[in-house]
Amino acid sequence: MRFPEDVPVLSDGAVTLRAHTADDVEPAYRMCQDPVMQQWTTIPVPYLREHAVSFLTEQIPAGWRDNTMWAWAIEYDGTYVGTIDLRDGEGGVGEVGFAVSPEVRGRGVMTTALKLAVRYAFDGLGWDRVIWRAYVGNFASRRVAWKAGFGGLVTIPGGGRSRGVRKDEWVASVGKDDELAPRTPWWTIPVLEGGAIRLRELRESDAQRAMEACSDERTQHWLTGMPSPYLLDDAKAFIGSRPDEAAAGQAVPWAIADAVTDELLGNISIFGLNNRMDRAVGEIGYWMHPDARGRKVMSTAVGLAIGHAFRPVEDGGLGRLRLVLKCAATNTASAHVAEINGFTRVGNERRADPRRDGTRDDLLTYDLLAEEYAAR
Ligand SMILES: CC(C)(COP(=O)(O)OP(=O)(O)OC[C@H]1O[C@@H](n2cnc3c(N)ncnc32)[C@H](O)[C@@H]1OP(=O)(O)O)[C@@H](O)C(=O)NCCC(=O)NCCS
Repeated sequence: MRFPEDVPVLSDGAVTLRAHTADDVEPAYRMCQDPVMQQWTTIPVPYLREHAVSFLTEQIPAGWRDNTMWAWAIEYDGTYVGTIDLRDGEGGVGEVGFAVSPEVRGRGVMTTALKLAVRYAFDGLGWDRVIWRAYVGNFASRRVAWKAGFGGLVTIPGGGRSRGVRKDEWVASVGKDDELAPRTPWWTIPVLEGGAIRLRELRESDAQRAMEACSDERTQHWLTGMPSPYLLDDAKAFIGSRPDEAAAGQAVPWAIADAVTDELLGNISIFGLNNRMDRAVGEIGYWMHPDARGRKVMSTAVGLAIGHAFRPVEDGGLGRLRLVLKCAATNTASAHVAEINGFTRVGNERRADPRRDGTRDDLLTYDLLAEEYAAR
């Protein structure tokens, strides 16, 4: 292809992808000074003007001429605001990379740009699949990819490389027959308040209290899947992985906090939300810090979570039709929380709940239906 003559102009009216010009060097250079940009991409740091000159006026034109990289300037409101590129493409599969300047982030510019580029990869270049990669934690990029239909996300420990350092990486992809729209829900974690408690997102500052709660003898006894001993690093890893659960559409995880002090009292989660066989079910799980037990805090927290689970999706809820809660037959405190919230005992799986000492308890299943909840 000839540069810039053969570079296709792609537009939805508001966002336009076009060939780079020498005038884009200065705004591209400025964009690359942004610390967020430097954190999440492989650009050189410090980023010098000559880097922008070389990338925009040499590497990008060469990419179009050699059929190895197809990069566009992203124009919004008549101004250069970023760059998006497609690379490789051998055998019909290639990768996409992108960035926009901080001033226009959060307005959907990149989502539009990504859809335009991906459509061109399929229709213009004849690709079958486009791959997106990002360092773990780059939720803005993940959300853009999610909105454009990228799915099947996996985490590859150490899969990314950043200036000589290995980083954990997310990888997802979209195929030519896929709709360029989200494939799974991305749940938000709303703040819910009632009865002197607040359900909110877990934070790093909750780690000490979470460690105390999870290393407690009773928590360790009933929740045998937890690491033992349970260390501060385990608590940090648990807290750090919560946003991922929500973004993957699998769970809505909350901290249970004191409404006045905001101190962590416990944890509650509605999980199993991505069950392929049943999109309308969810399971409730929880643990409590020992110093908050015996005050009906968990019963209140479950009540708040249930309300969110049964609320229709269009009203910001999870649109569930059935909720499940499971506990060991001998865990009377947990069974009480289920019963006080109107759950019905529907099953007893014999010896289904292994203890750490090798013994096994029966596992009770409770459920609550949306119509029962509505009739209260
Ligand atoms: C990633 C990036 C390109 C997104 O550009 P953008 O124009 O803001 O993208 P959009 O507005 O189309 O969408 C961003 C979405 O992420 C959401 N978002 C932003 N930060 C987020 C966070 N920390 N957690 C969750 N979502 C977040 C926004 O709310 C928005 O979603 P919404 O429209 O549903 O509200 C931009 O942040 C950027 O240039 N970052 C630096 C470079 C980079 O990371 N490139 C990608 C490397 S893989």
